[in-house]
Amino acid sequence: MKILVCPDADTAAGRAADLVAARLRHDPATTLGLATGGTMEAVYAALIARHAAGDCSFAAAQSFNLDEYVGLAPDHPCSYWRYMREHLFGRVDFAPDRTHLPRGDAPDAGAEADRYEAAIRAAGDIGLQLLGIGANGHIGFNEPTSSLASLTRVKTLARSTRAANARFFDRAEDVPRLAITMGIATILRADEVVLLAVGAGKADAVARMIEGPVSAFCPASALQMHRHATVIVDEAAAARLALRDYYADIHPNGI
Ligand code: F6R
Repeated sequence: MKILVCPDADTAAGRAADLVAARLRHDPATTLGLATGGTMEAVYAALIARHAAGDCSFAAAQSFNLDEYVGLAPDHPCSYWRYMREHLFGRVDFAPDRTHLPRGDAPDAGAEADRYEAAIRAAGDIGLQLLGIGANGHIGFNEPTSSLASLTRVKTLARSTRAANARFFDRAEDVPRLAITMGIATILRADEVVLLAVGAGKADAVARMIEGPVSAFCPASALQMHRHATVIVDEAAAARLALRDYYADIHPNGI
């Protein structure tokens, strides 16, 4: 794992955007794995700025998002389809038919998960996978005790995840209980993984991911088994890393 400790959250998001833009320049037809959530908003804003400056193009790329809530149609205001249109797809040059998310409103969510997994495989798997992390150590919606060999499937959200995501809904009880998520094995097949975590609320999960045992109890710890994983954190999210100074010596200021 490469650990980049950045001075602040904006710098950390900019580093994540740098890696995505570099991948697009190196391989314009790459397949990006994309995440949603609060952490990613600054990454997408930075990518939109780089695109506007002519630094990167999504025109030949395609994308697969990590997850979607079961029951929410693409036009639902809280769907991840809507999030992606607002925060990225509608503001860069992705071809509309080259961006993919699971259909939360599919009549059979299990069959939709299988279809989505097959589509990722048919695309040759993910080139660069962007990830956030839950305070409980989840990646995608692979909650603690998810099989480290899991593929795309329907997962029940943890209470803490529903509580954390209630801020995006009008009422806490509106947060769906189920989601379709790429599995941990699906994520580990990506050629390159970039995980971004900022803020003190992620410090415990970050320490368990990087320095704890590989365990289904902290799904993000599976990234220790990946050959090309970069974890980007700000100082607050790095606060509980025993070897923080070592990581900072290798990559001063996260560079
Ligand atoms: C989102 C996703 C989740 C989030 C995680 C962190 O597609 O898969 O794993 O990355 O819950 O969310 P934020 O950034 O809102 O703290």
